[in-house]
Amino acid sequence: MSALNKIARTMVSGRRGILAADESIGTMSARLEKVGVEPTAETRRVYRELLVTTPQLAESVSGIILADETFHQKLGDGRTFPQYLDDIGILAGIKVDTGAKPLAGAPEEKITEGLDGLRERVADYVRLGATFAKWRAVITIGGDAPSERAVRANVHALARYAGLCQEGGLVPIVEPEVLMDGDHSLERCREVTTAVLETLFEELDLMRVRLDGIVLKPNMVVPGTGSGERPTVGAVALATVEVLRETVPTSVPGIAFLSGGQSPELATQHLGAMQKLGRLPWELTYSFGRALVGPALETWRGDDTNWAAAQKALSERALANAAVR
Ligand code: 13P
Repeated sequence: MSALNKIARTMVSGRRGILAADESIGTMSARLEKVGVEPTAETRRVYRELLVTTPQLAESVSGIILADETFHQKLGDGRTFPQYLDDIGILAGIKVDTGAKPLAGAPEEKITEGLDGLRERVADYVRLGATFAKWRAVITIGGDAPSERAVRANVHALARYAGLCQEGGLVPIVEPEVLMDGDHSLERCREVTTAVLETLFEELDLMRVRLDGIVLKPNMVVPGTGSGERPTVGAVALATVEVLRETVPTSVPGIAFLSGGQSPELATQHLGAMQKLGRLPWELTYSFGRALVGPALETWRGDDTNWAAAQKALSERALANAAVR
């Protein structure tokens, strides 16, 4: 087993999943403001300290994705976040993309940036204790979107990122997110997700990315939030697994879903229903952001008397997801 394969398996096996706590400074600040907390480097640090020091988190979480700011910050006891995670048996991951920007000639579509200097940044993060990385591409549905050029540009960037990570010793989480925004049907999401994943695996192959050393982080197949469709949990689970069976090679060790704006409970139910669809060639787990940390942030609201209750809220979501694996 290669070192990359071993890390990838650790990320996705057992009952554990991955916690995405890597919101950019802008996104994190907006989420803090929404719950009445003044966004500063210190409040962002304290909030992340609350998350990672949740008791027994390592029982349900194998890895935590951090943003660059957090990666360089310290806990109250003086340990850096990656040092602390290593001490408690959780892998430290790093988001290395620099965000999705308007695609030239198609401002309603996005291209994720961050390839410049990535080889050197990967080396720095490895030195500081990272074992895996994340890059998120976003694909929009609506009107003529997604265009072929948006899909190709995004999977090309994902494949180049994945190659650079593997060369430097990090397992890349490869995240092509088909967004839930819009009024498209579940069928349209299925069609677009299938096309994106097919194109992605062609490109990963072209770039000689070792599939046994990645973790795929896709969206579930769901209708757009404005569609009015309310599919059953079983219908979402079945559509998602059918798409993955059609497109994801069996050499990929694991698939860790994003939650994408689904409610925490629904995301967990969908994950649980997929596990019941019989033997699958890859591990299926969670790499949720909002569906794991949303209730904790709402509970904390910057008030330290809510600290333990907020940690309990995170713990409950993580255990609920571990329980359906
Ligand atoms: P959500 O689960 O909130 O979609 O976040 C996952 C993630 O890491 C997005 O890049």
